[in-house]
Amino acid sequence: MDRRLILHVTDCHLLANRGENFLGVDTHKNFAAVLHYVKNVEKVAPDLIVLGGDLIQHDAKHNEEDYLAVYADVAERLKVFDCPVTCTFGNHDIPDIANKVFADFPNMSLGDFNALGNWNIVLLNTHWENHVNGFVSDSELHRLRRVLRKVGEQNIAIFMHHQLLPIQADWLDKIRVDNSVAVLAQILTDDRIKLVVAGHVHQDTAKLHYDKWFLTTPATAFQFASNAVEFKLANDMPGCRLMILNDDGSFETKVLRLPFDPGMLPDFSVKGY
Ligand SMILES: [Fe+2]
Repeated sequence: MDRRLILHVTDCHLLANRGENFLGVDTHKNFAAVLHYVKNVEKVAPDLIVLGGDLIQHDAKHNEEDYLAVYADVAERLKVFDCPVTCTFGNHDIPDIANKVFADFPNMSLGDFNALGNWNIVLLNTHWENHVNGFVSDSELHRLRRVLRKVGEQNIAIFMHHQLLPIQADWLDKIRVDNSVAVLAQILTDDRIKLVVAGHVHQDTAKLHYDKWFLTTPATAFQFASNAVEFKLANDMPGCRLMILNDDGSFETKVLRLPFDPGMLPDFSVKGY
């Protein structure tokens, strides 16, 4: 059976100033370590990489232009995989800057990916300016409906930054997609949609809901604790998610994490961000 590999890499929170740490983490170092591990230890050769958003940690003390170099560094580093890369944006991104930068990189394929074997990869934009939670605009929902009309009998995987379903972590459940009911109404009624993958929550979750899998992926930067009522860091290692999509609509998935290294963990005395 024909299989296609997607690597979901998310929540890198790369700082404009490489000399600084964020929550005690050198986010550039962790991001590079995850990519190196996937390529050289796990020896994964993906057919497509989907970046899940929060690629940068936008800080008002830096000019937006300072982040041009950070986005360029992301695109540059991903060239080693020799496959197309596409991207959804999160609450810490500056999409206009990222799109401007990525347009100059042939490996960066912005937008949906229509022909990955028997699969159609649909990116749903949840970025909501000046909000931590997500929102799928009316125009984005219309676009989704148009895409679904065009797809034919292909299987569909949807990627988005913010999660649609609660993951039993109160503080993160409050900052999921604000209009998740409207979005779920589109998704749950379509048999071709097999899985919905999000970042944002910095942890691995998987839930079967109306015959569709809703997955979230660990961050490359730092992890949040599962089932936490309020902000809480976890001592899980940085990672990403591999998805193996079969032509018949079935799939397998595996979280790939770095081997334990206390030097990559965050500062647990920090009580919020
Ligand atoms: Fe994040």
